Amino acid sequence: IKRTKIVDVLKSDAFGTTVNVKGWVRTRRGSKQVSFIALNDGSTINNVQIVVDVDKLGEEYLKPITTGASISVNGTLVQSQGKGQSVEIQATEIEIYGSADPNTYPLQKKGHSMEFLREIAHLRPRTNTFGAVFRIRHNMAYAIHKFFHDRGFFYFHTPLITASDCEGAGQMFQVTTMNLYDLKKDENGSIIYDNDFFGKQASLTVSGQLEGELAATALGQIYTFGPTFRAENSNTPRHLAEFWMIEPEVAFNDILDNMQLAEEFIKYCVQWALDNCMDDIKFLNDMFDKGLIERLQGVLKDDFVRLAYTEGIKILEEAVAKGHQFEFPVYWGVDLASEHERYLVEEHFKRPVILTDYPKEIKAFYMKQNEDGKTVRAMDVLFPKIGEIIGGSEREADYDKLMNRINEMGIPMKDMWWYLDTRRFGTVPHSGFGLGFERLLLFVTGMTNIRDVIPFPRTPKNADF
Ligand code: 4AD
Ligand code: MG
Repeated sequence: IKRTKIVDVLKSDAFGTTVNVKGWVRTRRGSKQVSFIALNDGSTINNVQIVVDVDKLGEEYLKPITTGASISVNGTLVQSQGKGQSVEIQATEIEIYGSADPNTYPLQKKGHSMEFLREIAHLRPRTNTFGAVFRIRHNMAYAIHKFFHDRGFFYFHTPLITASDCEGAGQMFQVTTMNLYDLKKDENGSIIYDNDFFGKQASLTVSGQLEGELAATALGQIYTFGPTFRAENSNTPRHLAEFWMIEPEVAFNDILDNMQLAEEFIKYCVQWALDNCMDDIKFLNDMFDKGLIERLQGVLKDDFVRLAYTEGIKILEEAVAKGHQFEFPVYWGVDLASEHERYLVEEHFKRPVILTDYPKEIKAFYMKQNEDGKTVRAMDVLFPKIGEIIGGSEREADYDKLMNRINEMGIPMKDMWWYLDTRRFGTVPHSGFGLGFERLLLFVTGMTNIRDVIPFPRTPKNADF
C-alpha cells in the first residue's frame, strides 16, 4: 500500500482502514506486552503513535527500533485513547530500513544544547527544533515569492560572482581558481592561486542591488532573492559570512513608497507564518520563548514608527541624560550600535521603527542626498530583539551628484561604468531595500542565534559540513 505522510494521517478520520507510514523513530517505550513508537517523517512537528503488540512481532525483532532508526509501518488507523492525540496506528507489519546504534547515535531523547547541535549540523534537522525552524524557513521563502509575484514584481537573478563592491565596505571574498588534485606551489611550498580566470579580480557578491537597479530601470519593479557573502570578521549572533537577502527595487518609488513597501512586506511574511506554520511556531513558543506568538501578533497591529536619525539621536541623548548606560557613545554622526537601535525599539517606542535620513558619511555612495548637504535618504527598519532587519534607500538618480559622491568616497569607478549608465540614459527616481532573510527568521522563530536559522552557517573559523 501507498505511503501516507504523517501530517495527513494525523488529520484523517478513516478509522479502521489500513495505512502505511514511513519515518524515523523519535522514541520507543512500553511494557512486555505493548510497545509505543513515536514516529516522525518531517512532514510535521507532530509524531504519530504506533502501537505494537510485542508478542505478535517478537521482542527480538523490535530491539533495533530505537531513537533514530528508520522504519516502514503497515497498520490500522484507530482513534487514540491517549489525550493530546487524535489518531494512532495499530501495527500489523514493521519493516526496519536502518537501525541507529544508541551507543553512537548523537541524538538521544534528552534535550541537547544549541552549541552541541551546531557541532552536528548534519544531523540537527532531525530534531524537533530544527525541523520546525527549517519548515518555517521554507514557508517564509515561499511567502516572499508570493508577496512579490502577486504585486507584479519580477524575480531577477543577479550574479554571485562580481567585480564590484556594492556596499563599498571592502568586505569581499575573492574568487580564485586552483586544481585541487594538481596543486601548483611556489618554492616556499605555498599554493599558487590563479586570480586571472576572469581577467580581473572577481569576488563573491555582497548585494545584488546594483544589478537590481539595472533591472528596475527596465522592468519597473523587480526583486532578488539569493545568497550574499560578507567577509566581516564579526562573531555575533546576528552576522553570517553567507546569508540570504531579498532586495526589491522599484522605479518611480520615493523613500515614502519604499517605507510603505517594507512595512507591508514584513507584515505579510509574519501573517503568513502565523497562518501557515502555527504548529511549529507554537512548539518554539512553548519550548524556548513564551512571548513569541504575542510578539508576532503585536507587530501586525502596530504601525511602524517613522523617525529621522537626528530625532533618534535626540531620544538617545535624553536617555543618557536621564542616566541610561550605553556601552558605546551617542552623538550626531555615530553609526548606531545595536544597543542604541534596540533602546529605541524596545524601551522607547515599543514597536518597530523605521529610521531615516542618516548622515551621509555612514551610508553607501548610491543613496539620494538630501537638500541639507549632510544627510541621505536612507531607511533602516529596526526590530525588537533583532535590531536592523532591513536596510534601504531612495537612490541618487542624478548623474553628477552620484559621480561627486563616488569621487568623494574614493570608490574605484572604472569597473562601474555600466551602473552609471542607469543615470546617463533615462534616469528615474527609484528606491529599494534589502531584507536579511535570516534576521527575519530570527524574528519569526524566536531563535536567538543566527547560526540556528540557516542549515549550514558560515562564520569566521567555521565552514564545516
Ligand atoms: O544594510 P545592508 O548592508 O544593505 C544592502 O546590502 C543594500 N544593498 C540593500 C538594498 O538597498 N538593496 O544589508 C541589508 C540587510 C541588513 O539590514 C541585514 O538584515 C542583512 O541584510 N545583513 C546581514 N544578515 C546576516 N549577516 C550579515 N553579515 C548581514 N549583513 C547584512
Ligand atoms: Mg545596513
